[in-house]
Amino acid sequence: MKLANKVALITGAGSGIGQATARLFAREGASVAVMDFNAAAAAATTNEINANGGKAAAITGDVSVEADVQRMIEQTLARFGRLDVLYNNAGIVNQPMLRMMELPLEHFERVMAVNTRGVYLGIKHAVPHMRRDGGSIINTASQAAFEAVVGLAPYCASKAAVVSLTQVAALEYAPWKIRVNCICPGIIDTPLLHATVARTEMNTAVWDNNGLRRRGLPEEIANAALFLASDDSSYVTGAPFLIDGGKAMG
Ligand code: NAI
Repeated sequence: MKLANKVALITGAGSGIGQATARLFAREGASVAVMDFNAAAAAATTNEINANGGKAAAITGDVSVEADVQRMIEQTLARFGRLDVLYNNAGIVNQPMLRMMELPLEHFERVMAVNTRGVYLGIKHAVPHMRRDGGSIINTASQAAFEAVVGLAPYCASKAAVVSLTQVAALEYAPWKIRVNCICPGIIDTPLLHATVARTEMNTAVWDNNGLRRRGLPEEIANAALFLASDDSSYVTGAPFLIDGGKAMG
């Protein structure tokens, strides 16, 4: 097992990519702190992992709130005794998709708060607990960090900022053997994707508009997260890991 005796905290683990990763990390031997804004979703993921012989604990909170981020780390340490892996995965898309001249300021600020501030807060409060033994921090950016999408300014900007935070953090914490990487998914079939389509005029044909001619699965991102969490990626830090079925090539 690739994560035996490791403790991983995953934000947004009640759904989609975070949930698939929580399941995989638990199967690979990690104790998993399942953090989500949605208490019922965090509990459901946790109960499923524990029922299947894994070790998980549910934590509810909002990654954009500093006190909640401090508490999620304290609860992980209280429950499992250490922290080896932090996956800053929780994220939202601005709804509805609007051009900047029409976009309410609150929408811009909320997306930046969850997607970017949440990652900064996670790094800030996890690092002090990883400096003794080293660790792996994985952030979720997006292929949208590298592509301009009309109506998605907050989302694209928030994810570009995550790539930058990842690279600065990788340099800042390399001396303590804390590796920091980010995953940049393309179109992945999760509830977030379906909610975005339901509330916008997005054409679902774009879902499969990439080299492999299909959308990705949450489990395919979880496999990358496992690589970055485990010692298999011991020489990887500061990397934006693009997993998009070849979409970015055009
Ligand atoms: P999802 O909506 O299925 O799951 C996200 C989870 O995060 C939900 O359970 C939600 O309750 C939780 N969450 C939302 N705001 C939160 C907050 N403030 N604090 C704590 N938890 C919060 O979404 P999905 O698709 O699994 O997305 C996961 C990450 O992957 C996000 O950062 C998203 O931006 C990113 N991503 C997703 C892509 C896709 O096509 N699905 C593409 C590129 C990036």
